[in-house]
Amino acid sequence: MTAESKNQAIQLVVNGKTHRAVVAPQATLLELIRDHLGLTGTKEGCGKGQCGACTVLLDGKPVNSCLMLAVQAQGHQVVTIEGAEHEKELDPIQQAFIDEGAVQCGFCTPGLILSARALLDQHPHPDEDHIKEAISGHLCRCTGYSAIIRAIRRAASGGKS
Ligand code: FES
Ligand code: FES
Repeated sequence: MTAESKNQAIQLVVNGKTHRAVVAPQATLLELIRDHLGLTGTKEGCGKGQCGACTVLLDGKPVNSCLMLAVQAQGHQVVTIEGAEHEKELDPIQQAFIDEGAVQCGFCTPGLILSARALLDQHPHPDEDHIKEAISGHLCRCTGYSAIIRAIRRAASGGKS
């Protein structure tokens, strides 16, 4: 059997659009998203499940796409940061990150926004402990986290600081 014959055809929905791909058994979901689909808003940091930069939503839940195999996404719904906008309007969380100055280099931002989106979908009015727990898998080297927490609170309160 050749290496190519072990490749597997999968189908998944990314940002509302159905995609088909033929992937190697060891290919990660992150590689599929960035290299095959060209959605480079999802970042690769550590590649080991430790920084959260590669976070996407899988059926509404945050996952580290660097740890997940592409074949495991077969039949699932994936949302990347490119799918966070609605009809060219920023997600309120994106706007709140801008308003609170929670974006510096921006490398951590796509993953944080998606984890915050999953949190607010489950708990529209989270307390600070909920927020801290939701972002606990994300490393940010720039902001010190205070602005990020403020931004998520702001989005939860309808954009008011
Ligand atoms: S790149 Fe996936 S957790 Fe760091
Ligand atoms: S804004 Fe730079 S790592 Fe978070």
